[in-house]
Amino acid sequence: MDMVNITIDGQKVQVPKTATVLEAAKSVGIKVPSLCYHPELRPEGACRVCLVEVEGARSLVASCVYPVNEGMVVRTNSAAVREARQTVVELLLANHPPDCFSCQRNLNCELQSIAADLGIREIRFEGERKNLPLDANNPSLIRDQNKCILCGRCIRACSERQGVHVYSFVNRGFGTTVAPAFMSGLDEAPCTYCGQCATVCPTAAIVEKDDTAPVWQALSDPKKHVVVQTAPAVRVA
Ligand code: FES
Repeated sequence: MDMVNITIDGQKVQVPKTATVLEAAKSVGIKVPSLCYHPELRPEGACRVCLVEVEGARSLVASCVYPVNEGMVVRTNSAAVREARQTVVELLLANHPPDCFSCQRNLNCELQSIAADLGIREIRFEGERKNLPLDANNPSLIRDQNKCILCGRCIRACSERQGVHVYSFVNRGFGTTVAPAFMSGLDEAPCTYCGQCATVCPTAAIVEKDDTAPVWQALSDPKKHVVVQTAPAVRVA
């Protein structure tokens, strides 16, 4: 296999020529936060949480889609990188429902975890909130697109792993969301309820129905959809 030599955070690394900067960093135990990236899915470069500095590049680059090159010098934890990542995550949180403590994914949410790792305690931006109805009229899954960060993992999992192609991005700009064709519910789509989309979702935009969770029993009836705002958006350690 053809290899290249690069330097990451001062560490000399030899990686396959086909690797991305994120894969190279992971190979030597350097943690770069990521959200839209999933090791079993095609990388998309959508969320920009994995930004790093590459010497000679005109701007910060998304490490999950940036290929390595011989002699490349990468910094994953400079002040500019940390500030950019923090801004990206704050913008994601700015229009995210602040109901972490009552959320099924509380303490098991990648967005929440990255925000905590970045030390985000306050959000500088006040974003508009989406007010899309829950999709829960099916036996297995609950979709809450108000919690979707548009990472596209569910789209890729459904098409790449299952070959079903239920989801796609719909609309534009702030109105962009992920949904089955014609914005239908899953009960009207060719969904097999395999749950792959819920497995890869980094937030609670798609979760499996859990009959043991009283709050989600209530939420599974769209008429009873109440977002409980009892907690700040970000867990404070
Ligand atoms: Fe790289 Fe989202 S993880 S852009």
